[in-house]
Amino acid sequence: GGVTTIDPGYKNTGSCESGITFLDGEKGILRYRGYSIEELAEKADFLEVAYLLIFGELPTAAQLNKFDKDIKEESHVDEDMKKILDGFPKSAHPMGVLSSLTSALIAFNPGSVDVASEEAMYNAIVKIMAKFPVLAAWTMRKRKSLPLDYGDNSLGYVENIHKMMFSRPNKTYEPNRIVNDALDKLLILHADHEQNCSTSTVRIVGSSHAGLFASLSAGISALWGPLHGGANQAVIEMLEAIKADGGDTAKYINKAKDKDDPFRLMGFGHRVYKNFDPRAKIIKKSAEEVLGNLGIEDPVLDIAKGLASVALEDDYFVKRKLYPNVDFYSGIIYRSLGIPTEMFTVMFALGRLPGWIAQWREMRLRKEPIGRPRQIYVGENLRSFVKVEDR
Ligand code: CMC
Repeated sequence: GGVTTIDPGYKNTGSCESGITFLDGEKGILRYRGYSIEELAEKADFLEVAYLLIFGELPTAAQLNKFDKDIKEESHVDEDMKKILDGFPKSAHPMGVLSSLTSALIAFNPGSVDVASEEAMYNAIVKIMAKFPVLAAWTMRKRKSLPLDYGDNSLGYVENIHKMMFSRPNKTYEPNRIVNDALDKLLILHADHEQNCSTSTVRIVGSSHAGLFASLSAGISALWGPLHGGANQAVIEMLEAIKADGGDTAKYINKAKDKDDPFRLMGFGHRVYKNFDPRAKIIKKSAEEVLGNLGIEDPVLDIAKGLASVALEDDYFVKRKLYPNVDFYSGIIYRSLGIPTEMFTVMFALGRLPGWIAQWREMRLRKEPIGRPRQIYVGENLRSFVKVEDR
């Protein structure tokens, strides 16, 4: 029974109760399990934030140690997975490869699907926390024709991600603190964001009791789109285009305002934040610090700042409450670390992984019903079939 109302894009429709992430879009507040994003970005490391999101509390030293050890024991990936990677063209977008490999992983870990007990759930979680960074790094090594790397279990979680991406044959990998801290902060800032498009996807796919990896693979596909995680790649491409066009920011502001032009200012606007995106504030500051520390001057940072300052004064953007979002400055940091543009959304996925896992786990523990929205039918009424020769 009941009357179906429609809410395209679910702008005002809640899909669940959740105890993971608190967000106040008017005030620009973001908290994971009650801890402010500012404090976590400053003081925590990514693995403890992952634990916090997934299990609800900051880990004790012993709990963190066990989590780390359990992950490291699962850091191998079946050799046959390489054949699947080999089958992709070198030009394949890393997000498509990552989503496919994550799905393929199910065949090599069939036990990860049946998660009836908390222990089985924990095992699946540890497996994917371990193997996902290996696969993510492989998508980049493939494009660069580098031999695959399984990482080094003596390194920390984030250092290891960097090592697996950047190690070179016959060269000892040297961890770099500036790089590691920058990555750690970015991953923390991306770790969860309540019921965004990819997270809702993970929850809805998981609600059919498809396994964790299948749900994550679907989440990766959702994240890929330029209106969501793909925006970080689109921002740098936009800034490069503006640079190539003589740095004419006003022209692009006008294009974004023109309703007959499909162009949008990438990295601007947010469904929930209507004042500022607290993540963008931290990332802007971090971009300046990281570039300063690495002694890099990137003209694109000046273009980004110029674009933002013009937009923030412009009636069109002010009236619609459009502000720089998390993706506006993140790409500038990624590329200062030598990460190729097409890998930016993969970096987002690496950060979002614990959030997706936490949301999937919460959905299963709460025994949520299968996700199945209703519709209002606007098609044809009943009519009779006409044979093909009579049409
Ligand atoms: N440039 C120009 N106009 C915009 C922009 C933009 N970036 N974003 C929104 N608008 C306009 C939009 O045209 C509409 O105008 P009007 O009321 O005259 O029709 C109004 O602002 C409201 O926009 P909306 O599309 O109805 O808002 P939404 O909540 O459906 O979309 C959004 C949110 C993030 C998809 C959108 O702002 C957008 O496309 N931004 C650019 C892509 C982007 O940066 N995405 C990353 C989002 S943050 C992190 C993540 O999810 O990865």
